[in-house]
Amino acid sequence: MLTVSDLAKSYPTPRGALEILKDLTFSLAPGEAASIVGPSGSGKSTLLYILGALEPPTTGTVSLDGVDPFALSPAELAVFRNQRVGFVFQDHLLLPQCTVLENVLVPTLVGTTDEGAADRARGLLDRVGLADRMDHRPAELSGGERQRVALARALIRQPPLLLCDEPTGNLDGAAGGTVAAMLFDLHRQQETVLLVVTHNTGLAARCPIRFELRGQRLERTDP
Ligand SMILES: Nc1ncnc2c1ncn2[C@@H]1O[C@H](COP(=O)(O)OP(=O)(O)OP(=O)(O)O)[C@@H](O)[C@H]1O
Ligand SMILES: [Mg+2]
Repeated sequence: MLTVSDLAKSYPTPRGALEILKDLTFSLAPGEAASIVGPSGSGKSTLLYILGALEPPTTGTVSLDGVDPFALSPAELAVFRNQRVGFVFQDHLLLPQCTVLENVLVPTLVGTTDEGAADRARGLLDRVGLADRMDHRPAELSGGERQRVALARALIRQPPLLLCDEPTGNLDGAAGGTVAAMLFDLHRQQETVLLVVTHNTGLAARCPIRFELRGQRLERTDP
């Protein structure tokens, strides 16, 4: 369960605090999927970074299955990010010098040895239709294929929370549709909490829970 209470975020600037997010309170249970839409600059990525424990809130709390990541020690926080959160960034951020299979395995290289990792990585790459691309480098892939590798990488540790920032942002309709279908398949299969930030109204509408970020506040808009 992801729980957000009274969350606010502001950035200090020379002209005073710049308020980005205010009074955010919501929770999502395992297996639930929510989309977040909102104008450019409204704070969608900022919110995902906070939920992924990459950036602290100014006030308020976040907890995932009862754990507040911002109350952890730096070492515990690193483990939390690695094991509890899968993040798909808009520009995939794959390592160019590594193969597809190696990129998916990157999150399993820290901490204790993960015995089944290579098998899981092959299984995930098979699920996203890249069984015959495992030895390719990212430069040898299409945009949609790269995004599918990023999805496999985000899920390799089987995290309870999956955060996606414009996962289909740079893709055309067909490739975006494929990535979205795989995203929802894997989400259902692994019963993650899924949060998707997107400008794509079709993708947003596929999530049973819908939020809109505007005027620093998050409004629930599903019927
Ligand atoms: N480190 C920072 N210091 C000051 N302001 C910041 C910082 N990071 C982000 N901002 C500001 O916070 C606001 C929200 O940024 P954010 O990236 O979350 O927007 P977004 O909704 O994801 O936009 P987009 O749809 O364009 O990706 C922006 O106005 C941005 O300029
Ligand atoms: Mg953004």
